[in-house]
Amino acid sequence: MEVAKPLSFHLWTFLVLGSSWILPGDGSSKSFRTFSGSEWSLTHLVVHNKTGEVYLGAINRIFKLSSNLTLLRTHVTGPVDDNEKCYPPPSVQSCPHGLVTTNNVNKLLLVDYSMDRLIACGSASQGICQFLRLGDLFKLGEPHHRKEHYLSSVNESGTMSGVIIEVPNGQNKLFVGTPIDGKSEYFPTLSSRKLLSSEENAEMFGFVYQDEFVSSQLKIPSDTLSKFPTFDIYYVYSFSSEQFVYYLTLQLDTQLTSPDSTGEQFFTSKIVRLCVDDPKFYSYVEFPIGCMKDGVEYRLIQDAYLSKPGKRLAKELGISEREDILFTVFSQGQKNRVKPPKESVLCLFTLKKIKDKIKERIQSCYRGEGKLSLPWLLNKELGCINSPLQIDDNFCGQDFNQPLGGTVTIEGTPLFVDKEDGMTSVAAYDYRGHTVVFAGTRSGRMKKVSVTERLR
Ligand SMILES: *[C@@H]1O[C@H](CO)[C@@H](O)[C@H](O)[C@H]1NC(C)=O
Ligand SMILES: *[C@@H]1O[C@H](CO)[C@@H](O)[C@H](O)[C@H]1NC(C)=O
Ligand SMILES: *[C@@H]1O[C@H](CO)[C@@H](O)[C@H](O)[C@H]1NC(C)=O
Repeated sequence: MEVAKPLSFHLWTFLVLGSSWILPGDGSSKSFRTFSGSEWSLTHLVVHNKTGEVYLGAINRIFKLSSNLTLLRTHVTGPVDDNEKCYPPPSVQSCPHGLVTTNNVNKLLLVDYSMDRLIACGSASQGICQFLRLGDLFKLGEPHHRKEHYLSSVNESGTMSGVIIEVPNGQNKLFVGTPIDGKSEYFPTLSSRKLLSSEENAEMFGFVYQDEFVSSQLKIPSDTLSKFPTFDIYYVYSFSSEQFVYYLTLQLDTQLTSPDSTGEQFFTSKIVRLCVDDPKFYSYVEFPIGCMKDGVEYRLIQDAYLSKPGKRLAKELGISEREDILFTVFSQGQKNRVKPPKESVLCLFTLKKIKDKIKERIQSCYRGEGKLSLPWLLNKELGCINSPLQIDDNFCGQDFNQPLGGTVTIEGTPLFVDKEDGMTSVAAYDYRGHTVVFAGTRSGRMKKVSVTERLR
């Protein structure tokens, strides 16, 4: 294992800006710096999977760089005159509060490959999104007429996450998870939205399904917010794998935190799963996730990276090379979400293990064992209902026995502990059959970990 080597590895290009970023590239190390330091600090990074061009989301700016990190375009998104107390849509409700110059923090940056455009959602105006042409960042549209066009004004980056699902010959979907800052009447915490080809289409971001009783959204119940006023869900990472979308989240631990919110707050990490083709969200499951090393618990997720095992790692793990694996970074303990302890661990999960744990839990619930165990969402204990249904890997829920919470934490395999610097980001790469993981730290350093050696 090599740790904290000088930044001389091949096949990787990286950016170091405040906190660290990692991206796969082609040549030797290069870096891109914004001009005025923290004022434009970066919040998101995506690399086009064909051109290698890099798109960066920042405070008040979106940048496009070539694959060699030359700045090609800058698109200005802020600051704007705004007030986060004004409710959407502003055209419908006039705002009684004064407008002030407000930063527009980029919170979501996704390449919509099928439409050759970038989706860039900010914090201003209660979280509206811009569609930008990939080539020159020309603004194609900015839907803002309907309530569904507003995703939430929380201006903390790294807390909102989205996945685009391409439906061949059908309608593409956007899954969005976001904190809501107590405004549950306006914003769902999790939803799936229509992603249409025309940026001007009023149906853009409309819920994939909606009738009188159910819709493609999950709201934080007001009961939960009256008991725990600070309750929120922070969506740290998301991905799709097979027929599912997954989210890695941080949320207030309502079992450990006392309701009056005077005492200390505890947080926990969860993995959330939905079937892509389940517009009514009956397939919602949520499991605690974490990692342990030498008896110490790491429960605060910082970042994750979905990858495939190289040849050797696949063999070591006893899985196929085509199976997905997940690298995660957790900070120690359950306290202080905003300033997590620097003691952190890099861990490995196979999606197979995650799927098996979830399947076992669904099967046991459908045998009528235990409760639904999702206190923040149900606010009461509902028993599982016995049913003769056969639950296999492809099960996508029924109108009963849902939503379902896991009772046992899914534990990862610890690979590497860092106690000095605090790991905040992770990416992985297969180099000639060896899986190499790069973890970025708070001070902008890189750790390089050879996974196959660590597992021995
Ligand atoms: C890039 O990603 C899109 C969307 O996931 C996919 O349809 C496309 O095949 C990918 N292209 C390459 C070259 O990997
Ligand atoms: C970097 O990429 C740009 C645009 O693709 C190109 O014009 C430029 O020559 C490249 N610079 C280097 C040093 O490779
Ligand atoms: C985010 O909002 C808070 C509260 O309104 C404000 O104090 C802070 O400066 C904002 N952050 C940025 C980056 O604008």
